[in-house]
Amino acid sequence: MKALLCTRYGGPDDLSVEDIPDPVAKEGEAVVRVHAAALNFFDTLIIAGKYQTKPAMPFSPGAEFAGVVESVGLGVRDLKAGDRVLGYLGYGAAREKVAAPVARLVKIPDALDFDRAAGLCVTYGTTLHALKDRARLRGGETLAVLGASGGVGLAAIELGKVMGARVIACASSDDKLAFAKQHGADDLINYANEDVKDALRRVTGGKGADVIYDPVGGPYAEPALRAIAWKGRFLVVGFAAGEIPKIPLNLALLKGCDIVGVFWGGFVDRDPEGHRANLRQIMDWCVEGKLSGHVQTVYPLTDAATALHALAARKVMGKVVLRP
Ligand SMILES: NC(=O)c1ccc[n+]([C@@H]2O[C@H](COP(=O)([O-])OP(=O)(O)OC[C@H]3O[C@@H](n4cnc5c(N)ncnc54)[C@H](OP(=O)(O)O)[C@@H]3O)[C@@H](O)[C@H]2O)c1
Repeated sequence: MKALLCTRYGGPDDLSVEDIPDPVAKEGEAVVRVHAAALNFFDTLIIAGKYQTKPAMPFSPGAEFAGVVESVGLGVRDLKAGDRVLGYLGYGAAREKVAAPVARLVKIPDALDFDRAAGLCVTYGTTLHALKDRARLRGGETLAVLGASGGVGLAAIELGKVMGARVIACASSDDKLAFAKQHGADDLINYANEDVKDALRRVTGGKGADVIYDPVGGPYAEPALRAIAWKGRFLVVGFAAGEIPKIPLNLALLKGCDIVGVFWGGFVDRDPEGHRANLRQIMDWCVEGKLSGHVQTVYPLTDAATALHALAARKVMGKVVLRP
């Protein structure tokens, strides 16, 4: 089978597509023919050796996928050949077939296509965990989303709306904000033109945002925190801007707010049933049309470098998907 391989740390152009042996399902595993593998920003880091997970070489990037079960190993009862599934592996999905523990797989409804299904797990999974389990977002609260047109940002807009919040989208261009508005954002802030603290105070009438969802970090985190409401929750989701901000702790004291870490991979490992319940909810909302699962572009495996360059250059709105 064909696999996109990282054989040494580097950039997207250092990856290669190679022939490797087909996988065989061990006990408790299923082999899945991958119809779509979704990429995330962290794939640009994992291939450069700059991510918290450092797989043994050679490995394939691609944390999540959707496809059809081809065979199952000993002891597998809940899945059979022909079932349509999505799955999360952390890395290794950008190849024609994967062997995955069945606990990492969930059946997908017929109404859900493979391209959208492949990209639901990480972005919407992280964000439902963040907004529901970590921030306990309530209907009527204000939710500010930084990097609002990116993968997790788009998920935060859509899930925020489903949960009844007023959503303030913050992004670096008017095109990205128009995209955020199409997906339900109520208020728009272009942080390339306006200080995020002043803008958040302005659109909330001086009160500040109840929940701030920050997958960007860098120069935006501290100004955003300075515009959080009393008893607000600041969600630390990621650092796409590259720099991990150092926050003065007196801000948490003065605002009476919580700074809340979000580590979705840790949640999946510690609470697999909670994760699967969240995923089933996400798929239901997607089928009902409440979540878009928007895919910007589908690339063949041989064009993976183009997809990864687009992610690194801040050019992706929603998701990019590889079709092995
Ligand atoms: N905590 C968790 O469990 C968890 C789970 C999944 C992802 N994450 C993290 O969340 C972050 C976003 O992931 P994603 O897949 O949604 O990424 P994405 O689709 O590439 O979106 C990231 C957004 O960050 C903004 N950004 C600002 N500076 C950037 C830069 N120098 N390079 C790239 N983007 C920049 C961009 O929006 P603007 O141009 O509008 O600023 C972009 O839309 C990553 O750091 C990822 O590791 C964390």
